[in-house]
Amino acid sequence: MQNNIIPGLFVGQNFILLKEVDSTNNYLKELASNSKPLSEGTVIMAENQYAGRGQQQNGWFADPCKNLTFSILLKPAFLRVTEQFDLVRAVSLGVFDALAPLTGSSLKIKWPNDIYYGEKKLGGMLIENMIQGGQIKHTIAGIGLNVNQPNFPDWVPNAISLQQILHTDYDLKTLLSEICSHIEGWYLKLKAGKIQDVRDSYLSRLYWLNEPRTFKAKGDIFMGMIKSVRDNGILIVENNNQEELEFSLKEIEFINK
Ligand code: BTN
Repeated sequence: MQNNIIPGLFVGQNFILLKEVDSTNNYLKELASNSKPLSEGTVIMAENQYAGRGQQQNGWFADPCKNLTFSILLKPAFLRVTEQFDLVRAVSLGVFDALAPLTGSSLKIKWPNDIYYGEKKLGGMLIENMIQGGQIKHTIAGIGLNVNQPNFPDWVPNAISLQQILHTDYDLKTLLSEICSHIEGWYLKLKAGKIQDVRDSYLSRLYWLNEPRTFKAKGDIFMGMIKSVRDNGILIVENNNQEELEFSLKEIEFINK
């Protein structure tokens, strides 16, 4: 099915709804690599994504027709390859801003790009950049959001859905439309060169920012405080000796006690 339900300039103007697919990221990647050019902002949404991919080779669980699983095609030729984390920021901010009016202040962005409500994960993103000739040729921003999922299997222990928070179902297409509009807004800010605004806004919504918390790195458990995120996405945590430690993804674990 193909129609346009999303207001705005380009995100969602080409909207393709699939009944069933392995992964909307895979589908969009395949489509984007075909010879026919695909317009920026194309959105692929699946009612049933049966082999969703998550970060770090994990899967992504979503019962059919109850959750949002979709991917957006972006063409950020205006960004340097070294600025790719700004895309992560812009997309995270878009998802966050669409949800915040519904959930209130317990909503945070967990570094690098999870959406957390309290101590539980409400959504996640898989942002894949295709780099060619030292340029970002295109980006596939895949977003999974737990919307009307009444409960989760044991093997998804830390998840929460909007329905569990609000005790009511939420219309998937209304939410999709809100998210697309907000992502478009943040993306256009990046394009207009307001990178610092994007970086500051991302930091201000960060989970555990400036809070004494427990982390695990290289097998060691330690107390520390998230202080900042470098332009390139490296996380900066200050330990109890006031040393600033730097971590990339997979190098640090957040320990909840
Ligand atoms: C994570 O937190 O591990 C990232 C999850 C990303 C899931 C979304 S659902 C739509 C898109 N298609 C995929 O296969 N993955 C992303």
